[in-house]
Amino acid sequence: MDEPAIKKIGVLTSGGDAPGMNAAIRAVVRTALNRNMKIYGVRHGYNGLLTDDIEEMNIRSVSEIIHRGGTVLYTARSPEFLTLQGQQTAAANCRKHGIEAIVVVGGDGSFRGALDLSAQEVPCVCIPGTIDNDIACSDYTIGYDTAMNTAIEMIDKLRDTTQSHERCSIVEVMGRCAGYIAVNTGIAVGAFAIFIPEKENNVDEIVAKMKFSKKVGKKHFIIIVAEGAGDSGEIAAEIEEKTGIESRATILGHVQRGGAPTERDRVAATRLGYHAVDLLAKGIKDRVVGFRETDIIDYDIKEALAMKKQLDLTLLDINSVLSI
Ligand code: ADP
Ligand code: F6P
Repeated sequence: MDEPAIKKIGVLTSGGDAPGMNAAIRAVVRTALNRNMKIYGVRHGYNGLLTDDIEEMNIRSVSEIIHRGGTVLYTARSPEFLTLQGQQTAAANCRKHGIEAIVVVGGDGSFRGALDLSAQEVPCVCIPGTIDNDIACSDYTIGYDTAMNTAIEMIDKLRDTTQSHERCSIVEVMGRCAGYIAVNTGIAVGAFAIFIPEKENNVDEIVAKMKFSKKVGKKHFIIIVAEGAGDSGEIAAEIEEKTGIESRATILGHVQRGGAPTERDRVAATRLGYHAVDLLAKGIKDRVVGFRETDIIDYDIKEALAMKKQLDLTLLDINSVLSI
């Protein structure tokens, strides 16, 4: 086998965790070892580079993790790494171990951190790991499928009690800036309405539709609200006041970020982890790996961060036709 262009790499997980991050770590570690690279695990995201919380990994370091949610390397949001001094300390610690490049698993904030680390001459390859699916250069991000399936399971349960009491349930799902989880989960549970940050939401329009649907026999309502699309408690109060239908808000919260990853997330994470290390072994750096449909692609980090992703708003129209 050819000698790898880069011989020592690190791997870290950063930002909000996502089910499948462990499968990505496993793929990175074992691909690196397969290519005769040394591989170091960095704990607690960029904080671990600052505090030198770095340990060499071997094939057994990643046994028994492919099926586990969370991240065995822990994750963090690191305000100190936002400073130039923090970035210089991080790079110095990499050099101390002879680490030539880092694989970063996280969201677009973490990718901005990777650019800054690269400016300190520690190149990176980034893997999209976030339940929000809001990375523009990739059609899919690790954790999205598991998070939606968790939300669906809980909303199906919630529907039982909403139906028994003939209530309206306003369900808040994650997604501060992106409505991907809300839209697809909403369609999958047959939601009456879906509120997302990408579109102006009109409660009065939904209230009018609820009154009509009630007249034609509908007895309970499920409305999905993305975290960034409004306050679910306030929306519930407004709907109750305007319709007279007892309304309750349920915030699903961080449970959406946990649990065993689905097949889709395990396989996506494995393919992305493998490809990230493959690039580094060939000496290709400062890339974001991702999916274009089912194909693996990669982009320059700066180019990737400049890209925009457009949620397909026609999905809301389909849902609106079917929820009656
Ligand atoms: P995510 O990666 O999930 O989008 P964050 O936006 O919280 O999560 O970013 C994770 C970490 O990445 C931050 O705590 C910080 O250490 C680093 N980071 C985020 N934005 C920048 C930036 N503009 N420059 C340098 N580092 C950044
Ligand atoms: O980025 C993933 C995400 O779960 C978002 O959907 C959510 O807005 C945010 O992280 C919550 O972050 P925290 O863990 O800081 O509450």
